[in-house]
Amino acid sequence: MRMYDIIEKKRDKRELTKEEIEFAVNGYSNGEIPDYQMSALLMAIYLNGLTNLELVYLTFAMRDSANILDLSSLKKEGKYIVDKHSTGGVGDKVTLIVLPIVASLGVDVCKMSGKGLGFTGGTADKLESIIGYDINIDLNRAINQVKDIGVCLMSQSSDIAIADKKIYALRDTTATVESIDLIASSIMSKKLASGVDKILLDVTVGSGAFMKNVDDAKKLAKTMVNIGKLAKVETKAVITSMSEPLGHSVGNAVEIKEVISFLLSDEETLLSDYNKDLKDVVFEIAAQMMKMAGSGDDIEENKNKIFESIVSKKAYHKFIELIQAQDGKTYEVYMDWVGENLEMPVLKDKVKYMKEIHAQDDGFVVSINSKKIGEALVCLGGGRLRKDEDIDYAVGFEFSKKVGDKVKKGDTILTVLYNDKDKFEDAFSYIEEAIYIDNIEEGLANGLKQKPHVIDIIY
Ligand code: URA
Repeated sequence: MRMYDIIEKKRDKRELTKEEIEFAVNGYSNGEIPDYQMSALLMAIYLNGLTNLELVYLTFAMRDSANILDLSSLKKEGKYIVDKHSTGGVGDKVTLIVLPIVASLGVDVCKMSGKGLGFTGGTADKLESIIGYDINIDLNRAINQVKDIGVCLMSQSSDIAIADKKIYALRDTTATVESIDLIASSIMSKKLASGVDKILLDVTVGSGAFMKNVDDAKKLAKTMVNIGKLAKVETKAVITSMSEPLGHSVGNAVEIKEVISFLLSDEETLLSDYNKDLKDVVFEIAAQMMKMAGSGDDIEENKNKIFESIVSKKAYHKFIELIQAQDGKTYEVYMDWVGENLEMPVLKDKVKYMKEIHAQDDGFVVSINSKKIGEALVCLGGGRLRKDEDIDYAVGFEFSKKVGDKVKKGDTILTVLYNDKDKFEDAFSYIEEAIYIDNIEEGLANGLKQKPHVIDIIY
């Protein structure tokens, strides 16, 4: 078999066989096939797509290119280990909120998370903004921790889906990332290698997501759900909006602060419209996860349990248990707004400067472009363009206004937290471009505010 013939076949839109796909994937992972040939094949796939069979062969070849983790010792009668994965976004702190909630309700979770790259943030970076938190624990420790406290959140193992790692790095430099088939096979190869029983996908759509429109997001979701079916791993996808940053914060330490305040919400806050986008997504994902895990078939009942777990602070205590189990530092403090002594994580959150950005006119916030906000964070040093770059955990944005909110000239839209004055100007140009305020009708603004954040569920 020759790589040349495989490239030619795909270029000419003919279907590749299982053997041909395995030859390309295995040859590239073990260094026998050079970058230039794999790049050509990836571009042919990008342009011509994959048939259903090719897609599955590619996913399975990447899954099988290294270890498949064994989580069987976590198996309990009638229960399933469910993984939750987001296709990425800006201000996406859902995993950090959902995991302690479901773990406090008896759902065991052993989850791997990645670092942020480009304009999208990564859960691993957010956790590393907690002093001492060890994201790099090994699988044995992770399994023991799940047996002990029901939850662990660790970095993506370097021992799984090695072919995907190499291929993804190549796609990043050859303009072949934005292909639904390649994204689906890349994500599913890693998820299928992570040893879980079921997979729940949060497929984001909007300016701050890979998928810019709902049709493409549905296509990506269906593609991944089908791969899951063929692999006999139940997979469900929730399509959620990422047109504006999720919640009120974007950054690393600043998002951990929002996680803390979310998990300490009282009944009134949970029932109000405050943080509606984040609440809608968190409740849906957590309720679906409980159902898939075998801990409650009725989604509405699950949502009631989630509500209780938050107001009783069970979910918050589980979050602290998780941090402490992975060596994150906490300290006890009296919190006036909660009215009791609680453990708090110690954060790398010291910034030299804070600047409020004000509305230039009266009107309503029509849009906040998440991609540009993510890019502004990279300018401040809070995100990275290369995998090996260090980041500044403390910088970020706190939003005082969200899409649909009424503003008066001079009102604060957001506060920028930063450490380097030279980086501020660059970031500011992205922020200026990101925020659009106009004098639209109030009804229209309310419509924007009430737009559903959970768009669809694909089984
Ligand atoms: N995330 C992945 O893991 N792979 C992709 O191709 C895109 C996003």
